[in-house]
Amino acid sequence: MLSNVASHGKGNRWLTGLAGLALLLQPLVIFIRNQNKAMGRSSKDKRDIYYRLAKEEGWRARSAFKLLHLDEEFDLFTGVSRVVDLCAAPGSWSQVLSRKLRGADKTEADVKIVAVDLQAMAPLPGVTQIQGDITKISTAQEIIRHFEGQSADLVVCDGAPDVTGLHDVDEYIQAQLLLAALNITTHVLKRGGTFVAKIFRGKDVTLLYSQLKIFFSRVTCAKPRSSRNSSIEAFVVCQNYSPPEGYVPNMSNPLLDHSYDVDFNQLEGPNRIIVPFLACGDLSAFDSDRTYPLQLDSGKDYTYTPPTQPPIRPPYEQACHLRKNNLLANEDTPSAAMLDAPLSALNLSASQQKSKETSTSD
Ligand SMILES: C[S@@+](CC[C@H](N)C(=O)[O-])C[C@H]1O[C@@H](n2cnc3c(N)ncnc32)[C@H](O)[C@@H]1O
Repeated sequence: MLSNVASHGKGNRWLTGLAGLALLLQPLVIFIRNQNKAMGRSSKDKRDIYYRLAKEEGWRARSAFKLLHLDEEFDLFTGVSRVVDLCAAPGSWSQVLSRKLRGADKTEADVKIVAVDLQAMAPLPGVTQIQGDITKISTAQEIIRHFEGQSADLVVCDGAPDVTGLHDVDEYIQAQLLLAALNITTHVLKRGGTFVAKIFRGKDVTLLYSQLKIFFSRVTCAKPRSSRNSSIEAFVVCQNYSPPEGYVPNMSNPLLDHSYDVDFNQLEGPNRIIVPFLACGDLSAFDSDRTYPLQLDSGKDYTYTPPTQPPIRPPYEQACHLRKNNLLANEDTPSAAMLDAPLSALNLSASQQKSKETSTSD
């Protein structure tokens, strides 16, 4: 009994101490909460300066800055009038290309931009869109058709798989995307042209460098300052397209089949290419891994800016719809036909199902 009272007393003191601490911390908590409110909806809003700048300047994604920074370093756009933008959705690179190459006065006849992605993309002035998979021959053929025998001056590819978190798998798929892009490039790029592509600097990256070096006399691995240091992402800037003598572009290119029986990183002698690495930008610019305070004019409140271009029909749209209509929870999972049905039809069947449920329970 005595020990009970004693521990009770201790507990009370402990609780009082905690309450005191909470009171002391309350102004801090309110301050932090207000800061968060002022900064935006998600933590990403607060953290990433390029994300905020993209919304302010009307770019569809923060990736726009990566291409802008690469251009600052490599002068990618001078004399360029025909471009292929691979893996383009939601379209910030196409926006950069359209704004930089077309400006206000040029027409579609002067500048040709062909953008390709698996996903649909909202239209952009002067950009021809193809919805397709860049690893498929049919997509490559459609791109080639759009150029009507002419060659492109520049091919860019910001392609990335939906990362799984398994680094080896992600790097492998990324490498396949890059090689698919390279394959398309060999069909459409003019001699002397430039190819820019996202690359994951994983352990087998030397094989990719070596493959790229077969086709381009200058290959540089560049890291724009808008690409987070914490990410293994970088970009290969391949200049002066000069395929080997007698090379005939072929979509069933063995570059893609990866049937090497050695560890890629063990490439030796002339097969091993050491590619220079370049950090684009100096320390005077924003650092994508740092947190910057919002710069609001005095007396002004933060107003949330929504994304410039929300995704059109993203792959998760149907899942959200099924969930909203409580179809995921049902024992009877939706039939394959239902999964393929357009959303308007799904709306109908969801409401039909609801009324059926109501009538049976009646
Ligand atoms: C990082 S996003 C590109 C962002 C884009 N550069 C921009 O600035 O808005 C990567 C894109 O790669 C696309 N992608 C991935 N695999 C693809 C494939 N096999 N064929 C075509 N596009 C693909 C995805 O659909 C996604 O839109």
